[in-house]
Amino acid sequence: MKDVLILGIESSCDETAASVVKNGRMILSDVISSQIDIHTLYGGVVPEIASRKHIERIDYVIQKALDDADVTLEEIDAVAVTYGPGLVGALLVGVAEAKALAYAAKKPLVGVNHIEGHVAANYLEYPDLEPPFLCEIVSGGHTHLVIVEDYGEFEILGRTRDDAAGEAFDKVARAIGLGYPGGPKVDRAAKEGDPSAIAFPRAHIEDAPYDFSFSGLKSAVLNYINKCRMTGQEISVPDVAASFQQAVVDVLLENAMRAAKDRKIKKLALAGGVASNSAIRAAFAEKCARKNIELFIPPLRLCTDNGAMIAAAGYYEYNKGIRHGLDLNAVPGLGLNGR
Ligand code: KG4
Ligand code: ZN
Repeated sequence: MKDVLILGIESSCDETAASVVKNGRMILSDVISSQIDIHTLYGGVVPEIASRKHIERIDYVIQKALDDADVTLEEIDAVAVTYGPGLVGALLVGVAEAKALAYAAKKPLVGVNHIEGHVAANYLEYPDLEPPFLCEIVSGGHTHLVIVEDYGEFEILGRTRDDAAGEAFDKVARAIGLGYPGGPKVDRAAKEGDPSAIAFPRAHIEDAPYDFSFSGLKSAVLNYINKCRMTGQEISVPDVAASFQQAVVDVLLENAMRAAKDRKIKKLALAGGVASNSAIRAAFAEKCARKNIELFIPPLRLCTDNGAMIAAAGYYEYNKGIRHGLDLNAVPGLGLNGR
């Protein structure tokens, strides 16, 4: 069978990324231009700046992805691009670029759901992984527990009722003075702290056992900090970070394990930026080994936003015959399963 080469383009948030992937599984190139330095100055992602930076960098990033893979645009079988969810102005840069390339080179255009891309990062790391499997997707904007029934097809078991897990990390990091990007900084600070120092709440939703809620946890951290400040008590940043992180780990682990047991699934994958958290990775590895569940976690570079995961997800959409027209638009609130 002929090899299928997909060019994947990602610009939904603060990384401008492009990659060439062969047959949905093999990374030929993976170029990421991060905007972290600029947004750090403002304490978070500034959408307007993100869009402008994507425009400045996207041509270079795509050309480098083609060069690194040693292929020309003519040799590519399809152009895959994230069209949602994400920041509308940021998404539009990638979508417009992908449309222009597809039109100029007469290649099929495949719009990809960013969350589906995160799941597909696992296919790059684990060539033998095939659906069905359970997947917990934990990113800056989304927290979902799903059964991946087939490529690009999901049964959604649970989702967050309020903040996403990554959002909670970012907000708590800001509150304890660690700044942006919050996740990696909390992760690092927590290594020096005691995870049982402060009893923060673990939310359980009575009638929806697979759903998540992180806003109560975030408020509890803020209340704790305020109380310490008012009473002149010293705040241990490592203890707050470790105790908060432990609460997130416990909830993510408990929901996933409950679903694995209820649905009798022995394969569990993690996906999204928060899956790069060292405590989460360690806790899942330990628990899954004990419960005889096969665990899949992408390497750090493939957990956070990248073009390779979009190319991988795009490959499976392309195989299904999915093609988008030049009227493809950015859909900032795009859900899994297209809703
Ligand atoms: O998947 P991603 O790159 O972008 C979205 O699609 O949202 O995820 C970014 C999120 C941010 O909230 C960031 O703080 C979080 O992932 N993150 C982490 C870690 N690295 C990134 N959270 C906890 N621990 C980390 N090591
Ligand atoms: Zn993402």
